[in-house]
Amino acid sequence: MTELPLTQINLPPGFIDLGMGDPDFDLLPMELLHRSAETYFATGDRRTLQYGAEAGDGNFRRALADFLSTACGSHVDPGLLFVTAGASSALDLICSLYTRPGDVIFAEEPSYFLALRIFADHGLRVVPIPMDADGLRLDALEAELAESRPKFVYTIPAFQNPSGRTLSQSRREKLVELARRHNFLIVADEVYQFLHYRQEPPQPFAAFAADVEQVISVNSFSKILAPGLRLGWIQAHAKVIERLAGGGLLDSGGGMAPFTSAVVRGMVESGSLAENIAHLRLEYARRLEALDAVLRRYLPQAEYTLPQGGFFFWVRLPGVDAAELRREAQAFEVGIRQGALFSSRNGMQDYVRLAFCFYREEELEEGVIRLKRCLDRI
Ligand SMILES: Cc1ncc(COP(=O)(O)O)c(C=O)c1O
Repeated sequence: MTELPLTQINLPPGFIDLGMGDPDFDLLPMELLHRSAETYFATGDRRTLQYGAEAGDGNFRRALADFLSTACGSHVDPGLLFVTAGASSALDLICSLYTRPGDVIFAEEPSYFLALRIFADHGLRVVPIPMDADGLRLDALEAELAESRPKFVYTIPAFQNPSGRTLSQSRREKLVELARRHNFLIVADEVYQFLHYRQEPPQPFAAFAADVEQVISVNSFSKILAPGLRLGWIQAHAKVIERLAGGGLLDSGGGMAPFTSAVVRGMVESGSLAENIAHLRLEYARRLEALDAVLRRYLPQAEYTLPQGGFFFWVRLPGVDAAELRREAQAFEVGIRQGALFSSRNGMQDYVRLAFCFYREEELEEGVIRLKRCLDRI
């Protein structure tokens, strides 16, 4: 019988895919979810098995608002939260409601390659905006504004995928000012906001959402609990929430993920979400240090800035064609993601994205040793 896949992960036994941006199976909180689901079932409340309220389950939005108010240090209005089936579904919905095929959007160069795929599904034209150590370069963005008006600017402001960079506070303020002046949306994908290991990022774009109609903050439980939950949220101005909730998708299907929201709500209210995040920070911090140490030891030619959070090292290997490296590395049973994947203009050819979320320290070391052997060969 043909085996049908159970997860997106499809690795031959023994292979170490250093490009893999998924959380380690061992870090998926099965026990905490089990307890929360049991508590929920014991209530006998069937309402979350019904079509849900369009913007999401009200009890869940209230619990999430309390959590975010504490985590971000400023009051979050539950009315400004909209429940999604994860950040990807949020991006897709925003594209459906706010764009038409052929529209221009701006995105960081490099950017999250699967978001670029969603934009391609919607027929959007992506104008790449370069970054530097402080994130998106606003001088370059302003120069592009003279050429075209984007429907939105897509940014991953904290611990970006793939570069690990964080947009500075002053640039966040300036970007908001530009969005107001030129009337474009900022779609801030903030999925790594809570995964800081060294230096905390500035306040998320979500903090602007109550007052600024142009800001849409997208977030997810994929990185702080588990991707299989398919649960996330948008924080935005009341007018945006109204527009999102008023679309045909929600009218027909009701709010997203009411049942999952009910189970996760227990984790939010009991404090186990916060505990899980604290645990992940400790674990990922160790893995980050480990990857840094083995890269310095085995690949001294690798150029990178040490990330302060998130999942990724964005590594330049001068003189190396990363696409070729990826092909050759198969024989050494090690994987990477080549930089060009993250470019909307086929650039970044001598960059690789390495991730420290999927493997333990000793596997990270073994992976880098294999990569070194491969590099020595080519
Ligand atoms: C920047 C970014 N956005 C979105 C996603 C996907 O999020 P979700 O699982 O919530 O759809 C990822 C996952 O890698 C990501 O890195």
